[in-house]
Amino acid sequence: MIITIDGPAGAGKSTVARLLALTLSEQSEKIYEYLDTGSMYRTIALLGLRRNVDWNTPRQLEKLAENTAITVNNGKTLLNSEDVTELVRSPEVTDKTHFAADNPAIRLIMVALQRSIAKQFLECGKGLVTEGRDQGTAVFPDAPVKFFLTATPEERAKRRLGELQQNGKQGNFNEILQRITERDLRDASRSVGPMKEPTNAIIVVSDGMTIEDVVNQLAQKCKQFQVKP
Ligand code: C5P
Repeated sequence: MIITIDGPAGAGKSTVARLLALTLSEQSEKIYEYLDTGSMYRTIALLGLRRNVDWNTPRQLEKLAENTAITVNNGKTLLNSEDVTELVRSPEVTDKTHFAADNPAIRLIMVALQRSIAKQFLECGKGLVTEGRDQGTAVFPDAPVKFFLTATPEERAKRRLGELQQNGKQGNFNEILQRITERDLRDASRSVGPMKEPTNAIIVVSDGMTIEDVVNQLAQKCKQFQVKP
């Protein structure tokens, strides 16, 4: 059973996907894994930064993607067996990730990898909660349960500012809001794998909801769709 969660940056998809997989695993005998597909594109960008690629020559980044082993499992992202889970969240990597995500050849490689990871889980009797921008539209269009998790840009900017402040960092609401709006536009307008609501998706707008509220709502919907215990 594959459950997809798509939606814009800052909607809380990673946390929700992880907790939903945990909740479904607790509520059933089946183990649900979760997959953070954004970390794959981020990893290619990290590699590009390390190898000092010319960002205006897409083939350079493509070659790196062709010759790199990325593993995403249990919330950890490995680049040729190096744990890069934290490193790929840096602002420098975030800034360059669109060079990987906008590149059709790199998307092909990532989509094949995502399908092969899902196949392995399903073959050993597990379920999968996978999150990204194109999971319910392009990668797993036949998934039985698809979510589009979103929140207004203002709400997402407010949450991001809160996260920064919690970590003792400074942030400017208007700048964060502008970056979020720019990323939304870029994610929704790319030629391959653009972010959009999948057909038959359940749309959840999480303004004013806690993470627990969101996870409970999604778990409830999964039950209704008879995600197999
Ligand atoms: O979800 P996250 O913010 O980590 O994703 C990083 C970037 O990777 C996004 O801005 C998006 O452009 C891209 N992405 C994508 N397709 C996915 C997941 C992420 O294009 N399935």
